[in-house]
Formats: sequence, structure tokens, C-alpha cells
Amino acid sequence: MAEDFEIIGNTKEEKYQSILPQIKALIDGESDTIANMANLCAALKFGFNFFWVGFYLIKDNQLVLAPFQGPVACTRINFGKGVCGTAWQKNEVIIVDDVDAFPGHIACSSLSKSEIVLPIYNLQKEIIGVLDVDSEYYSTFDETDKLYLERILELLKF
Ligand code: SME
Repeated sequence: MAEDFEIIGNTKEEKYQSILPQIKALIDGESDTIANMANLCAALKFGFNFFWVGFYLIKDNQLVLAPFQGPVACTRINFGKGVCGTAWQKNEVIIVDDVDAFPGHIACSSLSKSEIVLPIYNLQKEIIGVLDVDSEYYSTFDETDKLYLERILELLKF
């Protein structure tokens, strides 16, 4: 049940290990991808107290805002623009310790200080969008976040 969702642990790794089976259970119990994207955003946002967690999906050659949790965000991002558009262009995970030091960073909120953006893929392994996670603190994200967020994204079926 959703109200039983609880994250236990002190370290980041422990928290991800705690959240991973719970997210899997949530997703296994629901076939609708949008519903699962929405719950995944809520689980990560409130589980880790991130500033913003959300998806952008590629539509008409732009990234278009999809399910998210957090403040209102920009709705469209062009290929190669910002961290999200660059992750799409390079087709790779991008970790930014200080968003002001990233050329072309798109500041949806001045409170966001660091972020990680991960490509998301369909079953044919084509990139179809990104997951963007933002923090109010510098240097929040590292290889541990990359590892676990990739595992979590593999649970979604696009
Ligand atoms: N900062 C992102 C834009 C999306 S918002 O942070 C939600 C970027 O530079 O692509």
C-alpha cells in the first residue's frame, strides 16, 4: 500500500536499497506507465527530499515536460540545450555538481544547485526522454545515484 512506503537507512546506498524493492512492488502492481512515472517521482522526491524530480519525453524533436514532483518547471527543452538536452544529445548520464558552472544550464528555479539527468529508453533501446533530478545543494549526485537511478528506470516499461 502506498501509505506503507518508507525509506530506511542512513547512507545514500542504504536508502536506495530500501526504496528499490518498494518501487519495484509499486510498478509491478500497475501496468500504466504514466501512473508509474508519477509515483516514481513522488517516491524519489519525498524519499530523498530532492528539490525536483521529473521526466521529459521526446515529442516533435523537443523534450516535453511529463510527470514530475516539485515546483512548476519549463515545459519544452530543445535538443542539445541545458543539461537535459545535452543528456539527450550525448545519450548519456550527466551529473552536474554546480549548475551555474554548466554552460547553457536552464534554470527553472534559482534554488536548484546540482542535478543528475539520465536518458530513458524504450524496449528497443532507443532514447525516448530523460529523468531529471535536482537538488537545492551543491554536489548532491554521484555514481551511487547513477547506479541506482538506472536500476530504478529499468523497471519502467516504455
Ligand atoms: N535544469 C534543466 C532544466 C529542467 S529543470 O531543472 C526542471 C536543464 O538545464 O536542462
